[in-house]
Amino acid sequence: MSRAVAEGLVLAIETSCDDTCAAVVTRDGVIASNVISSQGIHDAYGGVVPEIASRHHLELMDAVVEDALTRAGASLDDIGLVAVTRGPGLVGALLVGLSAAKAIAAVRRLPLAAVDHLQGHVSANFLRVDGGAPFDPPFLCLVASGGHTFLARVEEHHGFEVLGRTLDDAAGEAFDKGARLLGLPFPGGPHLQRAAEPGDPTAFAFPIAEKVAGLDFSFSGLKTSLLYAVRDLGEQEARRRHADLAASFQHAIVEALARRVERALEQTGLDRLAIGGGVAANGPLRARLSALGVEVHVPPLALCTDNAAMIAAAALHQPVTPYPEHLGLDAYSTSDRGL
Ligand code: KG4
Ligand code: ZN
Repeated sequence: MSRAVAEGLVLAIETSCDDTCAAVVTRDGVIASNVISSQGIHDAYGGVVPEIASRHHLELMDAVVEDALTRAGASLDDIGLVAVTRGPGLVGALLVGLSAAKAIAAVRRLPLAAVDHLQGHVSANFLRVDGGAPFDPPFLCLVASGGHTFLARVEEHHGFEVLGRTLDDAAGEAFDKGARLLGLPFPGGPHLQRAAEPGDPTAFAFPIAEKVAGLDFSFSGLKTSLLYAVRDLGEQEARRRHADLAASFQHAIVEALARRVERALEQTGLDRLAIGGGVAANGPLRARLSALGVEVHVPPLALCTDNAAMIAAAALHQPVTPYPEHLGLDAYSTSDRGL
């Protein structure tokens, strides 16, 4: 392994779930292009179907990479490093991106940076947006998406300490399951937020996962509470109280996240917070965290949800594997951090 890229742009690929993503980023962390092709096909199933995701990645990959290069005004001649998500994620989906990245790096004899997806979410903060400065360590980072929810202490540009993680559902998954119980479409988070707007967040006292020790999260009990509440109200009354149910459910998730963040800030003495993952789009969560009195950094939404620019950002600060060694790299589905 050698140290990160010396010269040339970074071409990054991310295919850990259902979005086919490619990006071109400069060594200073400026985004030259960031292409995200979302596979809306899964919405009809109420979740991502791994086999369908892999097949679509295969179909979209070439066009997405080409689009990323074109939008950046670059060609493969300008690329000095290829970066790719190696895991965690859906293995079939990851393998499509990893194979494409290896192929591009091999024909150009370029090094490859095999990036951890969760490091990518943390590293999204290091990108320069609209000519601005990166949000550099030290900071506390909350990542809450459909696939993962964790709190990390970030002291350096590469690596982080996991302070807390969900013991069951991810926060976005909780939003999606709650939305489903309330008859809302997938993905549930944005629909549930909208449905909650006219509602009273204190109408129903859903559990806020306070039984979970330390800085870990748990959302599966909350989902069951909503199920019972809807059942006990009966169909007609549940429909009439729809906004209150949505608002109270959302409130429980937001409070669970915010209280752990507050506790983590206290315990670590950190006074800067970054938020990532799709749930960072949630208005009440942003408002609650912004009121904590610490500096809060939320990258633009396209950098909070899965994207390849964040993978390039991570690649700039980690060891890279030269050709042809990188041809032996494999994908992994779960992280060794217990996430
Ligand atoms: O990061 P992301 O795009 O993909 C994953 O890696 O999972 O996150 C998607 C998740 C979904 O569960 C979606 O319901 C949730 O983020 N989400 C939201 C909102 N927008 C997206 N949750 C709450 N409020 C929102 N406004
Ligand atoms: Zn993600």
